[in-house]
Amino acid sequence: MDNLDTMNLRLRPYTKADESAARSAHMVAVAEGSHMLLGFDDDTPWDDFLNSIDDQRAGLHHSQYVVRGVQLAADVNGEIVGRASVRFELNEFFQTQGGHIGYYVRPEYRQRGYATEILCQALIIARSEGVGPVLMYCSDNNVGSCRAIERNGGVLDETGLSVDDQWTWRRYWIP
Ligand SMILES: CC(C)(COP(=O)(O)OP(=O)(O)OC[C@H]1O[C@@H](n2cnc3c(N)ncnc32)[C@H](O)[C@@H]1OP(=O)(O)O)[C@@H](O)C(=O)NCCC(=O)NCCS
Repeated sequence: MDNLDTMNLRLRPYTKADESAARSAHMVAVAEGSHMLLGFDDDTPWDDFLNSIDDQRAGLHHSQYVVRGVQLAADVNGEIVGRASVRFELNEFFQTQGGHIGYYVRPEYRQRGYATEILCQALIIARSEGVGPVLMYCSDNNVGSCRAIERNGGVLDETGLSVDDQWTWRRYWIP
């Protein structure tokens, strides 16, 4: 891991200039069964997506998957390496999966400490909004995510079987 790169990681809002890079990162994420951009479809106009992020920050348009919070690009030296989603409140859905913070790191940037740093910075943002303790979920076999949570002080609370009995979830609290 290059410590300098980790030090250069910034969580920042998406801009108009991010459209192409973020769209292609999103396509890769979807192909591996994950999400780079949340609340985004291939045919979503970029301006609409940017507006939806502003609305989410303002606490507008609540739904099962949208609560007040922020969705930010993780930028290292001008490259988008992943994202953070920070939820300032929890509904029933996020209490039982998802928790307060989610993140994604693009495949070519993994195992460089970026998820650990993204979570570290996302925790500061969550706490600045009065969130605490911070609820986190990950899959038992997601070594990188479990480790990033533990590195950031996560305390394992409970594990359980997914609804389809196919995998085990872990619930952590970060004080
Ligand atoms: C999970 C994910 C976020 C990890 O991102 P990352 O930037 O590679 O994580 P980090 O580099 O910060 O790694 C944290 C630790 O886990 C280890 N690690 C990461 N991926 C690993 C892997 N596949 N196998 C073994 N160890 C792994 C790292 O070596 C590091 O260990 P250390 O703390 O001892 O140094 C990334 O793989 C990803 O985006 N996956 C798809 C989406 C996802 O799962 N999101 C999380 C949902 S809960």
